[in-house]
Amino acid sequence: MFSREQIQLRTPDQVRHMRRAGLVVAKVHAALREAVAPGVTTAELDVVAAEVIAQSGARSNFLGYYGYPATVCVSVNEEVVHAIPGKRRLRAGDLVTFDCGAYVVDEEGTQWHGDAAFTTVVGGTYQDPLDELVDTTTYEALWSAVAAVAVAVQSGASGRGGRLNVVGDAVEAVVERAAEHHGHRLGILREYVGHGIGTQMHMSPDVLNYSVSRRGPRLRPGMVLAIEPMLTAGPPRVRELDDGWTVVTCDGSRAAQWEHTVAILPGGVWVLTAPDGGAQGLEPFGLAPVVLS
Ligand code: MF3
Ligand code: CO
Repeated sequence: MFSREQIQLRTPDQVRHMRRAGLVVAKVHAALREAVAPGVTTAELDVVAAEVIAQSGARSNFLGYYGYPATVCVSVNEEVVHAIPGKRRLRAGDLVTFDCGAYVVDEEGTQWHGDAAFTTVVGGTYQDPLDELVDTTTYEALWSAVAAVAVAVQSGASGRGGRLNVVGDAVEAVVERAAEHHGHRLGILREYVGHGIGTQMHMSPDVLNYSVSRRGPRLRPGMVLAIEPMLTAGPPRVRELDDGWTVVTCDGSRAAQWEHTVAILPGGVWVLTAPDGGAQGLEPFGLAPVVLS
């Protein structure tokens, strides 16, 4: 997709602008977590997100993106990604992915983007052990990938560790470990990938969630990536609905997605869309975020 374009590296000041956008996205996520409940429609949740973005002095980067008609993607159950909010009423046990971004504008008029997604179960109790497996494994895959990027940067510019393919390798390793533990292999989406992010939401490079023989570009301080594993409870076969957006699993099985916008800095990463910069997510890996003041 974007692999032939140059990867842009950000200055510390530019990363600080992106942190502002990231914190707006985090605030939207917090509001959605508060508002999600049985009986609420997905369109009502879209309004919640739009209000938080407006109150924050930011703007939506989803609304109008190639004509996308809403502020959030609210993907319920067999919907994997990019589902348009509407009249659908959430029910206890629904497995829902919220994907939402925002941008701020700097003094020079340049846009700085954030993008993040999370999955949650309506009412707080999983309907099926497989729902929990796909959700928690996708969460682990995200943080394992973020940690792998941090380690790759720490370990310097040389060796197999220093390249973008650590993301796909980390996701595959987590899926493999879950398969060994639970006797069930989750699917990894191939049609949809993470991306560079900065002055636009989608930039070079593509960030694959599966292993490939090409090691990919070298990870360098100043790169900012949206890392977003998407896993399916069943086979990773998906199709797009006639609305031109909603992606569903072919077999109706459920799916999850977790995403953060992650800045690579000298010596580690700063998770721009996590309020704590990634402290909690990185802690199990013995890592801490590198934060710009
Ligand atoms: N965060 C989504 C992604 O990276 C972007 C959705 S674009 C929208 O794929 F138009 F659906 F909002
Ligand atoms: Co994204």
